[in-house]
Amino acid sequence: MGSNTPEPLFIKKDYYGEKLNWKELIENINTIRENTKNGIIDSHCTGCFGLQEQDWDDNTKFKWIQIAHWSECNCNCTYCYRLSNDFVKPKKRYKIMPIIKELDKMGMLDYNGELAYSGGEPASLREFDDITNFFIKKGEKLIMVHTNAIKPVKSVLKGLKTDTLSVTASVDCGDREKFKQIKQVDAYNKVMDTLKKYVKAQGSNKKMVRSKYIIIPNVNDKKEDVNKWLDDTQRIGIEQVILDFEADWLARNTNNIPAYIDDLFLYMVDNIKQRGLDIQYYGVANQYRKLKGLDKDGYGLHQE
Ligand SMILES: C[S@@+](CC[C@H](N)C(=O)[O-])C[C@H]1O[C@@H](n2cnc3c(N)ncnc32)[C@H](O)[C@@H]1O
Ligand code: SF4
Repeated sequence: MGSNTPEPLFIKKDYYGEKLNWKELIENINTIRENTKNGIIDSHCTGCFGLQEQDWDDNTKFKWIQIAHWSECNCNCTYCYRLSNDFVKPKKRYKIMPIIKELDKMGMLDYNGELAYSGGEPASLREFDDITNFFIKKGEKLIMVHTNAIKPVKSVLKGLKTDTLSVTASVDCGDREKFKQIKQVDAYNKVMDTLKKYVKAQGSNKKMVRSKYIIIPNVNDKKEDVNKWLDDTQRIGIEQVILDFEADWLARNTNNIPAYIDDLFLYMVDNIKQRGLDIQYYGVANQYRKLKGLDKDGYGLHQE
């Protein structure tokens, strides 16, 4: 973590599924809340980008849940942060269904929020279907799944039908060769097959399956690469795309972004809109847009 990033409030470090002291955690959260309300910022929160002036939500149940306790994957993306990030590198496997059930029994889960998966690949997490089916049954408002889409997952197909589960697949290219170069496995056709199944499984909301493109300079930075990706995206019926940048590259090149990358980015935004696709930006792309003073539609560079 950078020097300005506060350390999160851990209940336990080196955790491998042991029983937790929820009472102590809730007391800690309540103390932090009360202090913050009185203008005393806790050391765990200092400098956090989420620290904003807003009305208090006094709900004490857990509403925003992120599951990222595993790092197994059937793929090997050259850029993957799970290889360098300690948060997603547990040394041992452990089950989390018992913890979810315990929290549910205690009435601690608010299903009117969001469940998001990050960590490794959903298809490589043994409990993935159990966890997802549990939340679908409980009526969770939104379940966000990030996947490489090499292997279709049953509970994802089920969730898509309910309009409450969204899938984001980082495809990053539009052909087999480029896929092999980036992901180090020969699975582009499998990804297309899975995404076709996911598109077909969607309920009334046809924008729940998304194809993401991480711009990786010197790897997939040609207009031709982008066009191949968009051609296949439309061929399989996806209606929403997401743009992002490779995080380490942007961190290293913040003050040194080549002009051709600016040109490529604007070309992508324009092209995506002309094709009638919806566009969203992920965190690193938003950092880039902020740096460039791009307006909310991605057009034009503002004068600072
Ligand atoms: C670690 S992956 C796990 C989920 C799944 N295996 C996948 O690839 O979607 C979570 C998300 O982080 C993104 N990601 C991983 N490394 C990244 C990097 N260096 N820069 C930007 N995004 C990255 C992936 O594209 C994915 O959307
Ligand atoms: S598919 Fe996801 S978890 Fe697997 S290597 Fe790629 S980014 Fe990492």
